[in-house]
Amino acid sequence: MKHFKILTIIGARPQIIKAAALSRAIKRKFADRIKEVIVHTGQHYDENMSQVFFDELAIPHPNYNLNVGSGSHGKQTATMIEGIEEILLKEKPNAIVLYGDTNSTLAGAIAASKISIPVVHIEAGLRSFNKSMPEEINRILCDHVSTLLFTPTKAGFNNLLKEGFKENNQAPFSIDNPKIYHCGDVMYDNSLYFSAIAEEKTSILKTHNLQKGEFVLATIHRNNNTDEPIRLTTLFNAINKIATENKIRFIIPLHPRTAKLLPKNLSSQLYTAIKTSKYINIIEPVSFLEMIALEKNAKLIMTDSGGVQKEAFFFQKPCIILRSETEWVELVNCGSAKIADADETKIVDAYNYFSKTTALQFPGLFGEGTAAEFICEKILKYIV
Ligand code: UD1
Ligand code: UDP
Repeated sequence: MKHFKILTIIGARPQIIKAAALSRAIKRKFADRIKEVIVHTGQHYDENMSQVFFDELAIPHPNYNLNVGSGSHGKQTATMIEGIEEILLKEKPNAIVLYGDTNSTLAGAIAASKISIPVVHIEAGLRSFNKSMPEEINRILCDHVSTLLFTPTKAGFNNLLKEGFKENNQAPFSIDNPKIYHCGDVMYDNSLYFSAIAEEKTSILKTHNLQKGEFVLATIHRNNNTDEPIRLTTLFNAINKIATENKIRFIIPLHPRTAKLLPKNLSSQLYTAIKTSKYINIIEPVSFLEMIALEKNAKLIMTDSGGVQKEAFFFQKPCIILRSETEWVELVNCGSAKIADADETKIVDAYNYFSKTTALQFPGLFGEGTAAEFICEKILKYIV
């Protein structure tokens, strides 16, 4: 049988993790029908931001690596577009599969749509309604050149309807007649799949002597938090205050972007206080299984990450969102997450609230753990 060829673009850490779900579904159920060609743009390149996930999550080795590396938005995206176009022309896939909202996503969307290769967008429809976020621009532009759009949440689906996408378009689908689906979240597929083995296969809790329910897990990497000294200072002041006053440990696997900017954007006094605090452990980025082990055992999670907000929910942990808004509005609406921005009082109040409140709700909002299979079936059925 002739294989249907998809070309998957990955580049940033969360995309490598998301792609694992689809690669797994292809291997399990569609290997006789779908051939996947993986292109790594090289947006993330440190061993612990990229290779570790291939090793741990059994993702096929990328067929191509553009090695684009870091750079300004324009330069990075342009270099990716050029490289992806060349590969598309050579590989002639039936569709390109794009994840999320990074510069790698946007580059794939532009390169493929201009040469009439159908775009499949996974994690479509999410909006922060804040166009100062580079990701908001990337996701809007990608959605509007897509042929099949898969939204993880109902809110995402409704956002697409508000932007003019139609619920009842009929096949054949195309860039001018796209199809939108609400299908659950491939990250939920992954969390379910890897949760069972995370603690067994990692020793992160032991390495850092962490006890269940007795530490806060925090991540910070959004550009407006890292690049603005006032916001970064406020976030670390809040962490230092909560840690010291409550004698609670913080474990912070720090994104390289933040690690580079910390000494520059914090005062030397605060930087020293954070580095020498007996309660605060800043560590290198961890693997996905280590991250799951930390998430499952934390008392609470503080983050500006999209993926980590959701994983807090999957593992039934309260989450303090270190942003002024979120695309994952369901988490806030059901009360398990609070938006605290980079506001010390709000962060401390949210910590105190969640420390006292035990009866939080975590309804099933992200599907049944089968989103990747659903996506493969629709791609096979509707991309011609
Ligand atoms: C990118 C995405 C963001 C996503 C995040 C996931 C865009 C615009 N942003 O942000 O949506 O949430 O990935 O982690 O696409 N760096 C390293 N080593 C690496 C990678 C990056 O040191 O392996 C440092 C470099 O100094 C680089 C900086 O991090 O300049 C930012 O990297 P970049 O990929 O541009 O953006 P992220 O902040 O990682
Ligand atoms: N993650 C990880 N190691 C870390 C930090 C995060 O494996 O040290 C995982 C996390 O579990 C989630 C994904 O990376 O699945 C989220 O990526 P990130 O926070 O970089 O980006 P975002 O989701 O905000 O785009």
